[in-house]
Amino acid sequence: MRLSRRQLAAALAGGTLPMAGLPASGLAQTAGRSLSPTQGLGAIARAHGITFGTAVQQALLAEDPRYAAAVAAEAALLVPEWEAKWEALQPEEGRFDTAPLDGILLWARERRLPVRGHALIWHRAMPGWLVAALGEGAPRARRLIGAHFDRVLAHASGQIRDWDVVNEVIANPPGSDVPDPGSGPLRDSPWLRALGPSYIETALRMARERDPTLRLTLNEYGIEEATPDADEKRRRLVGVLRGLLDRGVPLDAVGIQAHLQMVRPFRPEPFAAFLAELRAMGLGILITELDIREAPDAPAELQRRDALVAGRAADFLRCAVEGGARTVLSWGLSDRHSWLATDPDVALGRGRTHRGLPLDAEWQRKPVWSAMARTFSEA
Ligand code: XIL
Repeated sequence: MRLSRRQLAAALAGGTLPMAGLPASGLAQTAGRSLSPTQGLGAIARAHGITFGTAVQQALLAEDPRYAAAVAAEAALLVPEWEAKWEALQPEEGRFDTAPLDGILLWARERRLPVRGHALIWHRAMPGWLVAALGEGAPRARRLIGAHFDRVLAHASGQIRDWDVVNEVIANPPGSDVPDPGSGPLRDSPWLRALGPSYIETALRMARERDPTLRLTLNEYGIEEATPDADEKRRRLVGVLRGLLDRGVPLDAVGIQAHLQMVRPFRPEPFAAFLAELRAMGLGILITELDIREAPDAPAELQRRDALVAGRAADFLRCAVEGGARTVLSWGLSDRHSWLATDPDVALGRGRTHRGLPLDAEWQRKPVWSAMARTFSEA
């Protein structure tokens, strides 16, 4: 069945779409042929030049058939939610454990899905030995980065062509959820303490030296919304990026996490201006971790809650896509397995679960799915 853009829009608006969790094979047969409402977000986006993907957990892919079916149905790109972080890959110095990452790589290979890498250098997911070793001084820190990159980039090089080399390096300004002390642009971290601000440059150069064909990305959050702290964080980030590019540091793209919050306003103008600045610097733009936290005073009715979340997703994604983002990933697909449900720092509380992802906890597509599909199909 081939639908016109108007017919697709009508089907999406009317909620006449079938549910997720369909067997992967049924969907694969329609992929790439026509724009049918049985297609997942990945196929709909691809027909309009956009790559849609999602973060995955290896254990769930292996053990929960509904989870695996939903990923197969919706995603055209995967990113490991934990399996490529330092504590997963090198839990003890010199002992590398690639088994969880390999599980994702194999699953993706069998379905011909690309995988992006996340995240080589981060101030979290650091094993205790690493924090202690970084305290032993700059030469030791550089050797550790070199050894980690040697092993990890070589191991994944056949499959991961795109890495978040550094993650969340900018300090949170006053007014952020978790403000950082001081007024410097960079977050205090074991990396900064060991190597000073040059740790970012060191990491990017080492990644490029080890594989000149990788796309190198700096990934950041808190830079999407229309608040004074986000304005300041964008300013800090742009300053850091300019410094890197002026010094000829290899950097190809900025990943914008997009952990959006309904309590924070979104306006297209400041975000669009920021994206234009990134483009003017020659940087690619990816939306890497989209999900939406509801407000603690969200309405009681699910329908109204879902409409608010869907509206925010549409406003944000339209602006992101118009501003040059051609890759969009959500941080998970279903509210059931989202960190928004399981992490007490970000959970909604009072027994409710954020409805901030395309599928609900029972794997059903909901209005935010339709809003995303519509935005992709209008791109
Ligand atoms: C989160 C995972 O989703 C959680 O399961 C884990 O416990 C902590 O990390 N920004 C990032 C991601 O770059 O790596 C984080 O993922 C969410 C915030």
